[in-house]
Amino acid sequence: MGKKIGWIGTGVMGSPMCMHLLKAGNELFVFNRTKSKASSLMEEGAAWCNSPAEVAGNAEVIFTILGAPPDVEEIILGRDGVLGNADPGKIIVDMTTSEPALAERIARDASAKGVEALDAPVTGGHVGAREATLAIMVGGEKETFDKVRDILNVMGNNVQYRGAAGAGHHTKMCNQILVAGNIVGAVESLFYAYKAGMDLNEVIDVIGTGSGASACINGLGRRIAEGDFNPKFFIKYFVKDMGIALAEAKRMNFSLPGLALANQFYISAMAQGYENLGIQALYKVFERMNGE
Ligand SMILES: NC(=O)c1ccc[n+]([C@@H]2O[C@H](COP(=O)([O-])OP(=O)(O)OC[C@H]3O[C@@H](n4cnc5c(N)ncnc54)[C@H](OP(=O)(O)O)[C@@H]3O)[C@@H](O)[C@H]2O)c1
Repeated sequence: MGKKIGWIGTGVMGSPMCMHLLKAGNELFVFNRTKSKASSLMEEGAAWCNSPAEVAGNAEVIFTILGAPPDVEEIILGRDGVLGNADPGKIIVDMTTSEPALAERIARDASAKGVEALDAPVTGGHVGAREATLAIMVGGEKETFDKVRDILNVMGNNVQYRGAAGAGHHTKMCNQILVAGNIVGAVESLFYAYKAGMDLNEVIDVIGTGSGASACINGLGRRIAEGDFNPKFFIKYFVKDMGIALAEAKRMNFSLPGLALANQFYISAMAQGYENLGIQALYKVFERMNGE
């Protein structure tokens, strides 16, 4: 028997994730800033809601996967938001890549109302969302996690409880620090290949199985080789993520110089107007830096 599930944020990630829940036989109540981005879900039977409040009124478990922390704050804690309109016993699961401190605040405010809340960011990109192979890292009360574990398993194949509220986001920051190093390495490697007059795909055919292999070289590297800089993971969101990780490191009093350098490259990408391109467009920054 399906559940009544709310879903707010039907973008690159949210739309395919939500589709899996629909196809698994759940009743879906959806809201997004741009309604047309929910049309494929509505065609499959999802019910459109006119506000986050309406989603909260209809659903037992409410998922959000929005852009950045201010969006999460507005949609969950805002005046017409989810929490203010959720009855005791309901569960809010925020899957946005967001700030640990905001997750702690949401969990505290929710608990005061008898509502349960989890932070559950994801990794695996749009392919993982489409194929339900996401890794999902969850912070909050273990009992709450146990209540929604089956739902999360519909969207991912590596669902892990990570600890108290905020622990999901801390784990996601570890992932983003890793991606930052990998993408700079992938871009520099392929730019070297280009300057040495080699075919980028042929180089990836070799090094993509080597000791430096990563999702960045094998996935995004192929797109660089094809000159495809369209977004699956926006530069603007990656800069948001690196900002969160750097702020957390500063708060905990340690340095992340590699991440800080990657962040500077991406700030340059933003300054060049690439914020709505995919993170592989860092390659274009290297081209420009080197007079191409
Ligand atoms: N793409 C990836 O590979 C990937 C992987 C892992 C994690 N993430 C993270 O997952 C989150 C979503 O990423 P995405 O790529 O799916 O981004 P996206 O395509 O921009 O999706 C975000 C969705 O949330 C909606 N939204 C944002 N703020 C809203 C608000 N205040 N009210 C109502 N709707 C709002 C947006 O509506 P509009 O379309 O109308 O603006 C959009 O449909 C981000 O935090 C990102 O860092 C992304």
